[in-house]
Amino acid sequence: MEKGQELYSGKAKSVFLTQDPAQLIMEFRDDTSAFDGEKMDQLARKGMVNNRFNAFIMDHLETKGVATHFERLRSDTESQVKRLDMIPVECVVRNIATGSLCRRLGVEDGLDLVPPTFEFFLKNDELHDPMINEYHIASFGWATPEEVTSMKSQTFRVNEILRALFAAGGMTLVDFKLEFGRFGGQLLLGDEFTPDGCRLWDTDTRKKLDKDRFRQGLGGVVEAYEEVALRLGVDLTKPVSS
Ligand code: TMP
Ligand code: ASP
Repeated sequence: MEKGQELYSGKAKSVFLTQDPAQLIMEFRDDTSAFDGEKMDQLARKGMVNNRFNAFIMDHLETKGVATHFERLRSDTESQVKRLDMIPVECVVRNIATGSLCRRLGVEDGLDLVPPTFEFFLKNDELHDPMINEYHIASFGWATPEEVTSMKSQTFRVNEILRALFAAGGMTLVDFKLEFGRFGGQLLLGDEFTPDGCRLWDTDTRKKLDKDRFRQGLGGVVEAYEEVALRLGVDLTKPVSS
């Protein structure tokens, strides 16, 4: 599969066309951003670690019956994916209160959320990804009611699958963000699942193993991502077969 023209460049990934209109190549760069691009840096190896980690998670989700856009690893920093018609909405599930939830609602940081809670955000950096509800999604036609139902149930399903996966490695999945898109008549999980888009804590010490290390200037960002991969048994050195 040949890499064609760049279609889109985001804050941490670039997406390229291929000769097949239904397939794209997603490149994970070392660029790291937080606060909607206000804080930016380059972290060596992050693109490679996230690309391989994302491939591992997407494969795992597929084995558990979650349909995703992921096709295959292409290189250390690239993956081949299906081209989706993206829904401009971010789906967030939270198992523990932290981050923007605490700022918005004044609740205690670290509180267990039983049952887990769910939020929609509009994908729009200039507006700082405002929180939206299902009525906004319907009124502006961002997704159909059936798609909303499916995004919610698939995000909760991913939560169950990944909570168990991380728990086996001594980690707590605190919260995460997913994005979905249409492919033919199907709704597929798109974008990525990496420590850039979730919060993971060591279960015993609550040490942060995710992008909060970058947001809060704690250092050891890529080292923490590598530790997460190691604890799940992801081989970051295996050559990618082409
Ligand atoms: P928040 O506490 O900042 O709202 O974030 C909740 C979770 O969703 C956290 O794991 C980070 C992730 N997230 C993103 O990755 N990108 C986003 O644009 C947003 C709003 C959240
Ligand atoms: N992903 C967003 C950004 O890069 C928000 C964040 O992670 O803080 O700016």
